[in-house]
Amino acid sequence: MRIDFGTVEITEYSKKLIAQILDSGRVSSGKYVREFEKKFAELVGVKEAVAVSTGTDADALALAVLYDFGANREDEIIIPALSFVATGNAVLQAGFKPVFVDVKRETFNIDPQLIEKAITPRTRAIMPVHLMGKPAQMQEISSLAKKHKLYVIEDAAEAHGAVYHGNNVGCLCDMGAFSLYVAHIITTVEGGIITTNNPEFAEILRSLRSHGRACKCESCVINTSSAHCPKRFKSNGSADIRFIFERIGFSAKMNELEAAVGLGNLQFYRDILDKRRDNLYYLMDKFRKFSSYMQTIEKENDEEIGPHAFPIVINEGAGFSRNSFVEFLASKGIDSRNLFTSMPTQCRGFAFLGYKPGDFPNAEYIGNNGLHIGVHQNLGKTECDYFIDMVNEFLEKYL
Ligand SMILES: Cc1ncc(COP(=O)(O)O)c(C=O)c1O
Repeated sequence: MRIDFGTVEITEYSKKLIAQILDSGRVSSGKYVREFEKKFAELVGVKEAVAVSTGTDADALALAVLYDFGANREDEIIIPALSFVATGNAVLQAGFKPVFVDVKRETFNIDPQLIEKAITPRTRAIMPVHLMGKPAQMQEISSLAKKHKLYVIEDAAEAHGAVYHGNNVGCLCDMGAFSLYVAHIITTVEGGIITTNNPEFAEILRSLRSHGRACKCESCVINTSSAHCPKRFKSNGSADIRFIFERIGFSAKMNELEAAVGLGNLQFYRDILDKRRDNLYYLMDKFRKFSSYMQTIEKENDEEIGPHAFPIVINEGAGFSRNSFVEFLASKGIDSRNLFTSMPTQCRGFAFLGYKPGDFPNAEYIGNNGLHIGVHQNLGKTECDYFIDMVNEFLEKYL
């Protein structure tokens, strides 16, 4: 049997749309991107969604919005030490300085009790990550943010479908940033999207994704119908609005072909989410018997976990290493990935910030001992049972 880490489905509907789009010659961002944004906003329950090229861009552009609200270059953004490296990269790409805070061992998410110590006069925002789809402790984070007048932006890249205290992630604070890369529950192959209830943020995001242009309508008449744009020469004297640059921007648009893949995916979103969540919760339940050797996350009463993957951390004193377990799983056809690393102390690129090994004990432990396996929609109970049998076999034969 094989348990692959991920899967991707380009639906018949998407294939038809893609053929139409190619024939039409209107391939860069246009009406299908707009349709995808509207549908994604409805799904999350927010007023606005702005599609971009990647989840990393979603993080970076959401942060860059803050320059319109008093932030300065090199101001500080608080993020968890443990995440996929894109979270830290995005902070730097947006021109800010990442300030790292350790995570909790049992949730993998930023520890709210450690945040206050990291706040300085230069802090502008907290960017919690809902790692492995488990919602971060947003109530505690939001009250700290309120106390210190900080923005909160969710890195919800891995958290499609996660629910916190009755609300979808992505609408819990100022902005939510999702990845739409193939490994995620809703995909456009490569892509990202920012959700917000603030129309002003959305306008700025539309400008940021297109080089910081003054041109930022929700739906562009030129891009959707080649029609005359009545605003084109109406601002700033006679200058062409498309060549007025109001802020430092990015080149981060989504194209129509990607939106077509996403629209096809959205038609089956509920099915995909339910199948993945059944797999995740089934594995979480069966895995509890291995708790003296390995841990996973637990679901709390007031949340639903976004079923991104099944995370595992090997306990201290388990008697085996992560790599021996990973190799055993691979020999049985079960693909896995490491569970990321402590960005400030285990990723070389961040060394210039001056953190030392030992500064983030939980993130570093998970960095050395964590892995995750797929729970995607092409897996079911048979594959989950096979995985549990293989863990049993490993513990019986090799310990
Ligand atoms: C937590 C987190 N943030 C950001 C990203 C970046 O997304 P992308 O790969 O679409 O740039 C990812 C990628 O999966 C992620 O896991």
